[in-house]
Amino acid sequence: MKKIAVLISGSGSNLEAIADACSKNKINGEITCVISNNSSAYGIKRAKNYNLKTFVVDHNLFGTRSEFDNEIEKILIGEEIQLVVLAGFMRVLNKEIVNKFSGKMINLHPSLLPLYPGLNTHDKVIKNNDCEHGISIHYVSPELDAGPIIAQGRIKVRKNEDIKDLEKRIHQIEHRLLPEIINEICIGNIYLDKKTVKFKNNNITNYIKNFYDE
Ligand code: GRF
Repeated sequence: MKKIAVLISGSGSNLEAIADACSKNKINGEITCVISNNSSAYGIKRAKNYNLKTFVVDHNLFGTRSEFDNEIEKILIGEEIQLVVLAGFMRVLNKEIVNKFSGKMINLHPSLLPLYPGLNTHDKVIKNNDCEHGISIHYVSPELDAGPIIAQGRIKVRKNEDIKDLEKRIHQIEHRLLPEIINEICIGNIYLDKKTVKFKNNNITNYIKNFYDE
């Protein structure tokens, strides 16, 4: 069973989806550590409901980004973490820590990358009248939201849909796809080979799911 760390900053609904899947043995791994950079994140409460070991590393208490990253790294090493999941973690980690965890750190992003890296993705989708939206799960590289893509989930944007509805539907597919991908990584079916995502034991060359009926 892989030891998983989940890093959060806010609501933590994805953390809960992962914890729930672990508790139902749908993931061949366990969350042994949750780290939040925000002491008032609701996700901390969710973590406690699942009796998960939780650390708060408040970025405001560190003089530099590297000092903050060093503290995160110290915890990940100390907890012997084998897979780091950034699930709504709103801090950019610097390249030293990212390179140390290369192939062992994944991020969940609410857009069909390379479209809309960064913030406010739902807003951009609506403003641009896009007919599709979705999520990406990718290995983390030093460039923001630009690492090798593992999986994407797509939805169709509805006519006159507002940000709230869109966000809700995006969350729903995140909660389904992220635990599934984490399990695939834990059992070794998905891994990073140099800079390429590899899929083992099947004919999958990419992992794109349409959730058009959602
Ligand atoms: C998710 O939509 C994720 O894609 C984005 O931030 C949101 C976090 O939601 N990076 P939650 O904290 O897991 O509820």
